[in-house]
Amino acid sequence: MSVDEKRLDFDSVLLSRKSIRSFRAEPVSDKELESLVDIARHAPSWMNKQCWHFIIVTDTLDIQDISKTSLTNHWMKKAPAIIILCADPHLSGSREGIDYYVVDAAIAMDHLILSATSKGLGTCWIGSFNEKKLKELLGVPPRIRIIALTPIGYPKEKNGLSNKVRSAIVRSTKRKSLSEICHWNQW
Ligand SMILES: Cc1cc2nc3c(=O)[nH]c(=O)nc-3n(C[C@H](O)[C@H](O)[C@H](O)COP(=O)(O)O)c2cc1C
Repeated sequence: MSVDEKRLDFDSVLLSRKSIRSFRAEPVSDKELESLVDIARHAPSWMNKQCWHFIIVTDTLDIQDISKTSLTNHWMKKAPAIIILCADPHLSGSREGIDYYVVDAAIAMDHLILSATSKGLGTCWIGSFNEKKLKELLGVPPRIRIIALTPIGYPKEKNGLSNKVRSAIVRSTKRKSLSEICHWNQW
């Protein structure tokens, strides 16, 4: 396979990723879940400090409790697994108010999400949750921040009801045009 063919393949993974909010009951194996974290840990990070930690949750009752820590994301309770992205702020740098532990962790999580997409798994970046409650639930040490989480599972259907409802209520998936966001040589 030529380099160009491979590149197209990867681009199609990037373009096919979308937020999935409805999952089939089929479990995702521990091996598969762990392999996603194994991929994510190769992401770049500030001075290679690798400030991230991932908590993989597959227990149904724990997943229900986690979904209760977010007012707007109760639908997560039906996911077969959830991965929680944590980061240690002391293991990264900052510049002019930009904290790189959030950047480091987000890159790793995106790698995880894209790897999941390439394997036919659905994910949804979740930023809305009660961090204090979630930390208590998962026994996360005080110095560690929870950056995001994602449910993981096999997508139920292309346009499942809860996906349609959420897309309609929460926000659209339409993207700004290239000309609105791409600048050449100057802003
Ligand atoms: C930082 C961040 C926070 C998000 N938080 C939530 C959330 O709490 N609940 C949710 O359903 N989707 C959440 N999303 C998913 C976005 O709504 C979604 O990515 C966006 O609407 C574009 O749709 P797409 O992912 O299907 O392309 C979040 C995405 C990001 C990047």
